[in-house]
Parts: sequence; C-alpha cells; structure tokens
Amino acid sequence: MKWITWMVLAVGVWGLVGGCKDKGQRGSSSEILIGEFASMTGATATFGQSSHEGLMLAVEQVNEKGGVLGKKVKVISEDNRSDANEAVTAVQKLISRDRVVAVIGEVASKRSLAGGGVCQQYKIPMLSPASTNPTVTQVGDYIFRICFTDDFQGGVCAKFAEKRGWKKVAIFTDVANDYSKGLTAGFKDGYQGTIVADESFREGDNDFKAQLTKIKATGPDAVFLPGYYTDVVKVVKQARQLELNVPFFGGDGWDSPTTLAAGAVMDGCFYTDHYSPDDPRPAVREFIAAYQKKYARTPDAMAILGYDAGMVMMDAIKRAGKSEPAAIRDALAATKGFPGASGTITIDEKRNARKPAFVLELKGGKTHIADTIEPG
Ligand code: PHE
Repeated sequence: MKWITWMVLAVGVWGLVGGCKDKGQRGSSSEILIGEFASMTGATATFGQSSHEGLMLAVEQVNEKGGVLGKKVKVISEDNRSDANEAVTAVQKLISRDRVVAVIGEVASKRSLAGGGVCQQYKIPMLSPASTNPTVTQVGDYIFRICFTDDFQGGVCAKFAEKRGWKKVAIFTDVANDYSKGLTAGFKDGYQGTIVADESFREGDNDFKAQLTKIKATGPDAVFLPGYYTDVVKVVKQARQLELNVPFFGGDGWDSPTTLAAGAVMDGCFYTDHYSPDDPRPAVREFIAAYQKKYARTPDAMAILGYDAGMVMMDAIKRAGKSEPAAIRDALAATKGFPGASGTITIDEKRNARKPAFVLELKGGKTHIADTIEPG
C-alpha cells in the first residue's frame, strides 16, 4: 500500500508543478498568441469590424512569409459589444484564460482606457490602433498607440475652422464619451475665434432639437461636432430639418461606412482623419489593393490602423527576439521610423505616435481631401 500512496503523491506533485510551469510560461506555446478586444457588435460595430479586418490581413501576410521568430501568429479576438465594462472582461479573459503575450485594441478611447487598466495591471503590452484621447497612454508604461492624439487633432480642427474663415463656432459635445470631451478640449485650446455656443448630448440620444435650436439662435458660421458616426448623422439630419444649414465638422469618430451611406445630407461637412482612400502614396495604394482583394470593399481609417497596429506589434516581437511581455513592451517603446501603410510610425517617450492628419469633405457619399496638416 505504501508505494501506491507514494506514487499517487508523486504523480500529483508532478502534475501540479508541471501544470503551474506550463501556465507560468506565457509565450511558450507553438504559436505566438496575440489578443484583440474590439467592438464587433453593438453601437459602434463598424469600428471593431474594420480594425479586426485590417489586423487579420496583417497577420495573414506575415504568416504567409513564415510568421515571427519561426512561429505562426494567432490572434484571439474578444467582442466587447461596444461596451467599456465588457472591454474589461474581454481583456481579463485574453490575459488569464488565453495567456496572450500582447493585446491589440481598442478603437474607442473609453474602451481603451477600460481595457488598458487591466493590461497595465498584468504588465501585458497593449497597442491601440486608433484611440486618440491623450489619457489612454497615460494609464501606464505598457500602453501604446500608433495614431495621433486629440490635442493635435483638436488643433487641426481649430486651424481648419480659421482657414475657412469661421469666426463664430458652436460646439456640440457628447459628454458621455471621453473621446468627444477630449477633442472639444483640444479644439478650445487651439481656436482663436469666438465660441458662440457650448452644448452637449449623450451617446445614444435621439432628440437633439432643443440644443440645435439654441445653437441656431447664436448664428454660428459652423458647428463643431466631435462625436461618433452613430450620433453624427442623426444630429446633422435634425439640424437640416430645423434649417440650421451651416457646415458641421468633427474628428475621426465620423469615419464609418454609415456616414458615407447617409449621402447628400452630409454634403459640405468636414472631418479630420488618419487616412484618405484618395492618398496616392504607394504604401496606401498597396494596402487598399490587398484589402479590397480580401474583403471586396474600400477600407476606412480603422482598417488601415488595425493593419498597422498588427504590423508594428509583430515587428516589435521580432525585435524583442522572444515572445515575452516585458521584452515586447521594450521593443514597442523602441519603435522608430516603422514604414506603416498609414504613415511612418515612431513611438515617442509618451508612447504615442505623431502623424499628419487629413481634413476630408463629404460630398455625395464620398470623401475628398480638403487639407493635409503635418504635426507641428
Ligand atoms: N479616435 C477615436 C477614439 O479615440 C476612435 C476612432 C479612430 C474612430 C479612428 C474612427 C476612426 O475614440
């Protein structure tokens, strides 16, 4: 009986140690596991769907050429249903259950802030493709982005308003959205004209007539609307019904197939963005061609940023020489002059990227480049 007891004990201890060892070695699997949290469904589903498609294209291209460090890269995606609390749960799952070595996400700043807290806590590097709110990367030294920030984007909107001769601007902010509030702050910082109205709404509202009536009474030359596409089209439609016919303008949150599909009602409105499908640069043309081939549609800004986020992350893992979170973090921080499809990406000491912005004009369901502004 004695030897059996010992055997059982030994096997138990071996199993325990073996199990722990496996669990402890993040990055030891036969593939390199990267987590992605995205809004694949819910209110802002086009954000998540586009960035996901871009990311998958990048991974496919790299895997076709043999992968990274001799291994194939595998993306594990979690849908957060456009919800910040779900984003926390999604990232927790990716880190604890799936044991990913790095995380890509999110598009919306609010959800990047939520998921970023978890990544920072577990010291898992996170790279946001598209979140522009300045506070996102301030969450900690494991949080990075490959796009410009809203102090810059807000300044671009302010400069553009002045160039257009808009001396009186009304502001209409989504106060339930960190992104919107940050962009308004950036605009106010840079704008030299007069802000004649400063009204607010909350994401998901359906009736904007009271605020729009107030705005109309102040006689603005234009209305600054730093919201997401879901609300922007509703607001502009109601403004036109009230015969508030001045241009509306906003930031990258307008970018969605939904805004284009709204058609003529958005004519003469403008928004700043990371990308234009009319950009003649070869890297952009190549990306658009590959994306169209795979998905049979024209990519938007989230798609190209999702693609670049994937490429930068895989390049960092390669430079790290091992798929270990702390080493990947250091390699991400050292990213310099990376030739992205959306532009050259250098990560600065605040873990942000500085890139030019486009101002796009909407006409007949299409965008046209109205201006390009370099970071100062
Ligand atoms: N910049 C937005 C945010 O931080 C997200 C976004 C990026 C939306 C790119 C559209 C295009 O919330």
